[in-house]
Amino acid sequence: METPTQRTKRILAMSLRNQDDSSEPRALIIGEDLHKTYYLGRTELRVLRGVTVAIEAGALVAITGASGSGKSTLLHVLSGLDVPQRGQVYYRNDPLFEPEGARVIPVGRDSDGSVVDRRGMEKQRGASYSAMQVFESRRNEMRNRRFGFVFQFYHLLPEFDVLENVMLPHMVGSTTASWLNGRSAAQARALGLLERVGLRERLKHRPNELSGGERQRVSIARALMNQPEILFADEPTGNLDGKTGRAIFDLLKELNEGGQTIVMVTHDRELAHEANRTVNLVDGQMDTNE
Ligand SMILES: Nc1ncnc2c1ncn2[C@@H]1O[C@H](COP(=O)(O)OP(=O)(O)OP(=O)(O)O)[C@@H](O)[C@H]1O
Ligand SMILES: [Mg+2]
Repeated sequence: METPTQRTKRILAMSLRNQDDSSEPRALIIGEDLHKTYYLGRTELRVLRGVTVAIEAGALVAITGASGSGKSTLLHVLSGLDVPQRGQVYYRNDPLFEPEGARVIPVGRDSDGSVVDRRGMEKQRGASYSAMQVFESRRNEMRNRRFGFVFQFYHLLPEFDVLENVMLPHMVGSTTASWLNGRSAAQARALGLLERVGLRERLKHRPNELSGGERQRVSIARALMNQPEILFADEPTGNLDGKTGRAIFDLLKELNEGGQTIVMVTHDRELAHEANRTVNLVDGQMDTNE
């Protein structure tokens, strides 16, 4: 049987060789030879050591591995939240990151993945400032419009009610005028999504007035607000009891069956087995013994 690595290599070879041949499955996202190292004082922590992975449209991919094996890091790099020192991520064959050597490498990140500190540019090799801005704005556009994110600890805004939290992605990036113009359509969409995740009766609740499972449903609805092409989920069931976690996973599976591409980090082997494919990380590399 084909191993995950062989499979990735095969898809990668096909995607790169035959970009216009629609009869071949073409990956939505390809992470190629990704290397990510964190520097803590003098200590080097080599978290990703050459990971290559292809995510096809419509897939449900589970990223598994021991704690500290680099699962969240891989998810953050694939979604453009974090910058790798080496390697590239292609979204529909477009590179997400500047050429190596011309990248601004973040040295830390917040729990929601946002960069908290920057070391500055390592070296300017061949990429002009305006070229770098193109990459940066492309990544921002991806995160806001093409990707949806779900996290273990929900990251809902406590001051806003359920409906407002779900509508937030619509507000982000719109001008006051476009926000006002699009408001009723956005509200209708948010209500539809809340219906879909079974929370139509909770619109006015604040996050602290909801159970963990309900909070995660809100965050899934919020992640779907801008009709993302890919939903990235980092341990979406990690903070929930078995039964509630199962229900959240079933919801993700249902969305996937409806065509939603999902990349999910999970500790739960049982859930991972139900994904189309598992990427198991061992010491920052893909486990080839699966
Ligand atoms: N911003 C950072 N700065 C320094 N080290 C970091 C940073 N982010 C992660 N690390 C380290 O990198 C390693 C991999 O982290 P990562 O969060 O990717 O692991 P994980 O597989 O998601 O683990 P878990 O299952 O516990 O969530 C860990 O040892 C972690 O301490
Ligand atoms: Mg993690």
